[in-house]
Amino acid sequence: MNIAIIGTGYVGLTTGVCLASKGHQVTCVDLDQEKINMINSGTPPIFEEGMKELLEEVISAGLLIATIDSENAIKHAEIIFLCVGTPSKDDGSINLEYLKKAANTIAEKAGNHKIVVIKSTVVPGTTMNAVKPILDASGINHGLCMNPEFLKEGAAIKDFLEGDRVVLGVTDKETETIMRELYKDFPQQLFITNPTTAEMIKYANNSLLATKISFANELGNLCKKLGIDSYEVMDGVGLDKRLSRQFLNCGAGFGGSCFPKDVKAIISKGLEEGEGMKLLKTVIEVNNEQPVKMIKLLEKHANPVNKKIGILGLAFKQGTDDVREAPSIAIINELLKMNSDITVYDPEAMSNAKKIFSDKIKYAESARECANKSDAILILTGWDEFRKPELYSNKIVIDGRRIKEAEQNAKIYEGICW
Ligand code: UDX
Repeated sequence: MNIAIIGTGYVGLTTGVCLASKGHQVTCVDLDQEKINMINSGTPPIFEEGMKELLEEVISAGLLIATIDSENAIKHAEIIFLCVGTPSKDDGSINLEYLKKAANTIAEKAGNHKIVVIKSTVVPGTTMNAVKPILDASGINHGLCMNPEFLKEGAAIKDFLEGDRVVLGVTDKETETIMRELYKDFPQQLFITNPTTAEMIKYANNSLLATKISFANELGNLCKKLGIDSYEVMDGVGLDKRLSRQFLNCGAGFGGSCFPKDVKAIISKGLEEGEGMKLLKTVIEVNNEQPVKMIKLLEKHANPVNKKIGILGLAFKQGTDDVREAPSIAIINELLKMNSDITVYDPEAMSNAKKIFSDKIKYAESARECANKSDAILILTGWDEFRKPELYSNKIVIDGRRIKEAEQNAKIYEGICW
């Protein structure tokens, strides 16, 4: 099938590469010419396991090209995926500017019948109340599908190709048939529903996972005080098949482009509808407190004012270069207010951190250099290369990611919840 993908961020590029790998003809569209050039030369603009190999494969098979020419891409596509960003506004609600702009471009340029698929994360009601009226007004013959994406950064390709299910919220039977055809070579179960329910499934999914983490953090904080190993507790709890062990690891808190943004967006939608959203508000509150706890633990063992502090790990989790909403950002900002002398290291996220902190902090070239230049070390991302006891010889270590190997050689070792 002939597919246009509007927006080449994590979701758009992964969707494009994976659909092309199943033999579909894909055109990826973005406004950023530099990104387009990178993609066409086989270099993914993001760090993602397996992406480069698959991108090179589909480009050399002639199945994927990238362009800034949205008009041409839209005209020739049978199915158009909208994968543009829906960034948070100050009140937590999402900004639909890019989505509406893309819908307007389709309305103007599409011509004949199109299936428009919304993959951007949007609050319930958006597809039917914000996108559909734009397409309806244009008079183009179209079907609509809300197809939320559940991929995890660092496992994007695998999650897209082999995730647990594909949710398709469709407006009509014909669109369902075409979408079933599109996904026919994927092993996942298809879950067919309407667009608004599909939108809610995405928020329910992410909110519940975030809730599990905040639950684990709250109990983890208590377990630490009671001298109980919270990880062992969750190992026991996780044997209950109704609950599962996943997303019950306590630590410095969740970050990334999805959990904080999505939980805030559904809270905002709930408040708009007159619902209190008490549970999810607390999920965010508990999460915001974990970075503060890291600083408190540091202060217990060393005065951060004018001290040399090493930060091991900037990315919001291992396996990615993404620092959006990472606990490291809140913690570094706090330490900067205290005039700490900060040296950081992350195997992938250094250039993204430089865009935020420029010369306010120092950047080490290795974990060893970062550790050597510091009196106290905070571990904020669970990269495997931080699991070397020798890094921590004679240092004060505050661990936010359960890198227990640090305990062996450290002068003082304290975990956030253990
Ligand atoms: C998440 C969802 O998992 C995915 O389905 C959705 O499409 C996008 O949002 P992602 O943001 O890539 O994916 O990261 P994920 O692996 O889910 O981790 C999110 C955050 O939670 C990370 O900061 C991670 O460190 C933290 N986390 C995760 C915990 O603190 N404890 C856990 O047990 C699991």
